[in-house]
Amino acid sequence: MEKDYINKLILSAMDSCEKAYSPYSKFKVGAAILTDDFKIYEGFNIECAAYSICNCAERTALFRAVYDGHKHFKAIAVVGKRDIDDSFSEYCPPCGMCRQALREFCNPKTFKIILAKSVDDYKIYTLEDLLPESFGSDNL
Ligand code: THU
Repeated sequence: MEKDYINKLILSAMDSCEKAYSPYSKFKVGAAILTDDFKIYEGFNIECAAYSICNCAERTALFRAVYDGHKHFKAIAVVGKRDIDDSFSEYCPPCGMCRQALREFCNPKTFKIILAKSVDDYKIYTLEDLLPESFGSDNL
């Protein structure tokens, strides 16, 4: 994956993170997903007073893109931090539900998940690395 796109995705995820609606956990997450035709969709986590009705940043980004008609993706970058932190001091790996949601639209062998602390400090996994032996439409 080109460094230029990795940078763009990380910066978009960071931008989006600042806008998160997370008054209960006080933990902000930002994600940016790259479509097959090189469009970037951003998402952040959205929480509700009824806590179980939260939407993670990754699914916000993914579903915004799907709503616009995109069904194939290349990569997603994810960042997260507590409100009290100034910087992204830890990697923020996607939760299990988000991994499975990505599985619906992304090729596990090629789709990249970029966990970033900065544009120079990041780790890249494939979806299959983070969701091995996954269940998908081909299992039905
Ligand atoms: N969160 C995400 O947005 N993505 C993840 O993959 C992990 C967790 C959000 C959900 C909740 O709003 C907050 O982080 C704390 O769990």
